[in-house]
Amino acid sequence: MQMRVAVCPGSFDPVTMGHLDVFERASRMSDQVIVAVLINKNKSSLFTLEERIEMLTEATAHLPNVSVDSFYGLLVDYCRDHNVNAIVKGLRAVSDFDYELQMAQMNYRLTQVETCFISTNPLYSYLSSSLVKEVATHGGNVIGLVPEVVLKRLEIKISSTI
Ligand code: PNS
Repeated sequence: MQMRVAVCPGSFDPVTMGHLDVFERASRMSDQVIVAVLINKNKSSLFTLEERIEMLTEATAHLPNVSVDSFYGLLVDYCRDHNVNAIVKGLRAVSDFDYELQMAQMNYRLTQVETCFISTNPLYSYLSSSLVKEVATHGGNVIGLVPEVVLKRLEIKISSTI
């Protein structure tokens, strides 16, 4: 299926190689991909919204049809306002499936927007932003699991919080 405009939504606190793999693959299937960062006032994050956007922008600089944006409120409203044809998500394992299916069905119920799932690269199937933060905070090695820009920012962030 050729999608014109696809959106990859998430918190991206921070972006991982698993996310990047999904963006790259989505960019080959669509004319335009928007990586949309949720502005979530109730969820505390390690990186500010601005920092997350900067890291995403640098990590996707090699993908000419990928742009980065943020949104507040319902994803379906963002999709409607930006003429998005499909939401693209990565599925790491069966454990992701229940909640992702629920959201996809709710989003379809709201505005008939389609959701497409990409099976993540098995190299990254265990990877999550939360685990990256936990491992990095305690001095573990996350080289190869996050883009170079995130490695640098994690080092700075962690050294300034201890
Ligand atoms: O990276 P995350 O935190 O797992 O991403 C979750 C996200 C942002 C994709 C999801 O929470 C979302 O779409 N939030 C926007 C609010 C919304 O539309 N909620 C109804 C979903 S059916």
